[in-house]
Amino acid sequence: MTSPITTSRQGEVLILTSDSPPVNALSAAVRQGLQAGIEQARDDESIQAVVIVCAGKTFFAGADITEFGKPMQEPALPTLVDMIEALDKPVIAAIHGTALGGGCEVALGAHYRIAVPSAKLGLPEVKLGILPGAGGTQRLPRVAGVEFALELAAKGDPVSAAKAQQAGLVDRLAGEDSLLDDAVAFAREVATARPLPRASAKSITADPSVFETFRKTNGKRFRGFEAPAEIISVIENSMGKPFAEGVALERQGFMKLIMSVQSAAQRHIFFAERKAGKIDGVADDIALRPIKRVGVIGAGTMGGGISMNFLSAGIPVTIVEMQQEALDRGAGTMRKNYEASAAKGRIKPEQVDQAMGLLNPTLDFDALGDCDLIIEAVYEEMSVKKDIFGRLDKIAKPGAILASNTSYLDVNEIAASTSRPQDVLGLHFFSPANVMKLLEVVRGDKTADDVLATAMAVAKKIKKVAVVAGVCHGFIGNRMLMPRQVEAMKLLMEGATPEQIDRVHVDFGMPMGPFQMSDLAGVDIGWHRDPTRIENIRDALAAEGRWGQKKSAGFYDYDEKRQPSNSPRVAEIIEDFRKKSGAVQHEVTDEEIVERTLYPMVNEGALILAEGKAQRASDIDVVWIYGYGWPVYRGGPMFWADTEGLKKIVAGLEKHGFKVAPLLREKAEKGARFN
Ligand code: 3HC
Repeated sequence: MTSPITTSRQGEVLILTSDSPPVNALSAAVRQGLQAGIEQARDDESIQAVVIVCAGKTFFAGADITEFGKPMQEPALPTLVDMIEALDKPVIAAIHGTALGGGCEVALGAHYRIAVPSAKLGLPEVKLGILPGAGGTQRLPRVAGVEFALELAAKGDPVSAAKAQQAGLVDRLAGEDSLLDDAVAFAREVATARPLPRASAKSITADPSVFETFRKTNGKRFRGFEAPAEIISVIENSMGKPFAEGVALERQGFMKLIMSVQSAAQRHIFFAERKAGKIDGVADDIALRPIKRVGVIGAGTMGGGISMNFLSAGIPVTIVEMQQEALDRGAGTMRKNYEASAAKGRIKPEQVDQAMGLLNPTLDFDALGDCDLIIEAVYEEMSVKKDIFGRLDKIAKPGAILASNTSYLDVNEIAASTSRPQDVLGLHFFSPANVMKLLEVVRGDKTADDVLATAMAVAKKIKKVAVVAGVCHGFIGNRMLMPRQVEAMKLLMEGATPEQIDRVHVDFGMPMGPFQMSDLAGVDIGWHRDPTRIENIRDALAAEGRWGQKKSAGFYDYDEKRQPSNSPRVAEIIEDFRKKSGAVQHEVTDEEIVERTLYPMVNEGALILAEGKAQRASDIDVVWIYGYGWPVYRGGPMFWADTEGLKKIVAGLEKHGFKVAPLLREKAEKGARFN
């Protein structure tokens, strides 16, 4: 087998080039090639310096994650990095693309680092539930300081080459198109300079208070995660210690984390997210329909949010409303949102006008005639949607993709109101649509393959994580939400409080519980609007104007700062319904709440899978991570069920009288897993 590492010479400089698509992950073959190259440099007296560079789109993007859990092949990455650093001739890492994880650690092992301005560097291991295991926790704080190292390693977000240079992680910026030449020139400049700057020779120093401050500042972000705490401790405990002792701490932490359920869950999601983009039965290279202009019908919260995705990606949007006032309000909100982002420094000030300049707000429905993709985002009423799609059928150009942003309705029925059901699908965005990463792409019975594939490609362009769902009530996410909500209400009747149920969900790692979610979304959503018709707790709250946060009262009371407190009035309402319902009262334990609200979700997920409404269990996990904030360290509901044990889930469901989905039972009996 040919090595992914090729060697070449420019005079006294040896160039090691890695060509291992797609991301130059540091597989065994890459490591072996690099080792051979370093040995060649060591043994050949005519070589004075070494440049390590990568072909393709990026410098090494990390250790090869697919090798995790398999028998290790020599050389191990930490050994290779030590070997690079120990060479007594200068090694220059020439960086483009993304130098991540093990890639960044290779660069830290090199004596000098040069990067193109567009490059990014980072230690994202924490996002896989592990810590940098090839010396990163040791060399980075020695080279760039403790605070910078904590930011990079514990949060996992990469930084630009310019920021890396400011911090000392990068020595020099190269020309965008002259990386290799600039690296070779750099190598010649430093070929004879001694002593060689070795990161391991420095020590880690900082004011000891930085660690506590960092923990406190990021407490919310790190809640529930094991890896950030371990990373911070490893760096803290390495202060003032020799490199070898710090490395031993790093190794210990790495071994602990790599065996953890959290890391397995986070690695599962890494691959699940990428797999979600693949459509079973549709060729990867199917010809896509060009999407140059997008139409959006409805300038409400959803329509506006949806439009912003495209505008931000540089795709012009025609947005249509029925009334001028609604149109103006919608466009105004979009501008305000962009301005708020600019004020927070998330986008550049000039990008506000750039994005808004691509928006064509209009009352003229026929203006949608030149759009390649048209997304309907009006309220959830089948007759209204059918009417809109009937009209679209007459004016949309041939081949235009017609999409509904429905959350529940039958996409096949909507498609049937056109003469081109093959061009129709669902694009279910999650609110706020410009923020939430998930997009459910709903495949109708007649949706053409290229329409589906185009939708998935467009999703990627607007930086969404897209999952294909089949037509059913609520698709994947909302369908699984329903049994949870039903059980939560039943538990109230039997003696639990909203506070207890929400707390159990938050302790589990959700951003909020079912009742906090109701208050945020609006208790009045889906309400029949008749204050005299009071059939359940929701009706009672809505009738009293307790519509949630927007009214400062819902399942909780809210103060001016939207801080919630328990509501005596809600307790009264619940008590009243308990009496009327005749439900048997008992002490509801936290465990029962988990069994009765989360297990039924897994059960519903199994039904969805068996019916083919989701392509794979991991797609369901992706939906819940990116659409509803399921804690990523639990890997999504189906992965979580696997780790709990499917037998336990079945037993729990049976204990509470649920009908167990046949697929779940079958897997439990076989000792199989969903993932
Ligand atoms: N190992 C193995 N495969 C990897 C990989 C890695 N580190 N990184 C990416 N890939 C694969 C992906 O699975 C995908 O495969 P597929 O085409 O079969 O689905 C392919 O490479 C392309 O990846 P993306 O679709 O993500 O491509 P993008 O261009 O969108 O993004 C990227 C590129 C920014 C490099 C992104 O892939 C990424 O963030 N990768 C992970 C980086 C990472 O976590 N590195 C740390 C690894 S752990 C480590 O280094 C431990 C060390 O400290 C010991």
